[in-house]
Amino acid sequence: MPRFDGPPDPLFTRINASLGFDRRLWREDVEGSRAHARTLARAEVISAEELEQLEVGLGQVAGELERGELDFEAGDEDIHMAIERRLTELVGPVGGKLHTGRSRNDQVATDLALFVRGRAERARGLIRALMGRLLALAEAHADWRMPGYTHLQRAQPVYLGHHLLAYFWMLERDEIRFAAAAGSTMAMPLGSGALAGLNWDLDRQATAEELGFARPSPNSIDAVSNRDFALDYLYAATVCATHLSRLGAEIVIWSSEEFGFCEPADEFASGSSIMPQKKNPDAAELLRAKAPRVLGSLSSLAGVLHALPLAYAKDLQEDKEALFDAVDTIELSLEAAERLLGGLRFDRQRLAAAAGDEMVAATDVADLLVRRGMPFREAHGVVGGLVREALERGIALSELDREDLGRHSELLDDSYYEVLSGDAWLDSKRSAGGTGAAPLAAQLATAREVLAALDEIQ
Ligand code: ARG
Repeated sequence: MPRFDGPPDPLFTRINASLGFDRRLWREDVEGSRAHARTLARAEVISAEELEQLEVGLGQVAGELERGELDFEAGDEDIHMAIERRLTELVGPVGGKLHTGRSRNDQVATDLALFVRGRAERARGLIRALMGRLLALAEAHADWRMPGYTHLQRAQPVYLGHHLLAYFWMLERDEIRFAAAAGSTMAMPLGSGALAGLNWDLDRQATAEELGFARPSPNSIDAVSNRDFALDYLYAATVCATHLSRLGAEIVIWSSEEFGFCEPADEFASGSSIMPQKKNPDAAELLRAKAPRVLGSLSSLAGVLHALPLAYAKDLQEDKEALFDAVDTIELSLEAAERLLGGLRFDRQRLAAAAGDEMVAATDVADLLVRRGMPFREAHGVVGGLVREALERGIALSELDREDLGRHSELLDDSYYEVLSGDAWLDSKRSAGGTGAAPLAAQLATAREVLAALDEIQ
């Protein structure tokens, strides 16, 4: 470097280098470089023959990278410089022409946009697979009764299929968020130069089309400083990981001996080194614990961008490790969740026994009084009194006799015992979106349509 007197301090080299992690962008870098070389040739900045040499050389470099044969050198600060250095070794000085009309600032922004787009599309595919798994499970358990919870206290009975579909709709929203993240990568930074544009009038529209962008970025300063698409991806990943953490947490609780609602497959659980009776739901626990890590990546990048003056600053190099970690974490979590669910076995008896707890019909007893003209608030109080008396006397609600009932309200008669006797509770939930058999069948049909439509876009 002619501007400098001596070599850089080794510590400076260490803190400055990004090759250790940005080598992961090599495919996008080669793809962007190929498109840029063709753009240069179309503008007659390089000759057809030079383009040919560059294309052959880039192909060779890509081959070496693919096979893990490219030896990086101490001076290779980042993947962009490593590829150009190796290209020049292979094709001679013409390699140095590739960087005409390009800066690493628009180059790295372009590489990263391509990367984020590819990974957002991949996440969408994994989400669709998980939605398919949830839908199949919900169909298979559509009429299995279980207690629904609020505050983790038994609240009202629901069908297991209805509970599982709750996650289906959470994931549908995740799919939409990842699609939006892919959409926000659509303005191509390449052609913005370091920050101010180029001395060449390159056909940016053609380059954009070649690389799958919708359009060239309209402002060169914004283009080299923009990492919103990575933030969008990280936000989508954070919400998705949060959903998976709730699923993981429920599986952990449900597979405890206290609940005994489900059991993970042997291949998806671990034993204890000293307690032979144990089967631990590790994958579910890890799904539960990954979410804050992804959120950490989102807050890291938001922190990097916070108050950062335009346009490019080296701070932006710190975008990558957080992003890569989140990509790996969410992809692994989605795949693991799908496999975990695939092997999960539910215990119909345990679920039904828990759902048969009469206390969960308390709301329905209140509704009985409401149908007889009592205001809901008052009915709530009457049933509260019944529950209290049963608890104090250590008996079930159905063990209160007609005389006991009469002391609480003259509107209570034998239909009280019918409401408590079971099956009626669940299917009385007939509002759209509720758990009753009829709305649940409609919900399953809608879910099937939604998934089919998503698979069609794919
Ligand atoms: N490794 C750098 C990054 O990831 C590439 C851009 C370097 N640009 C520069 N002006 N030093 O951000």
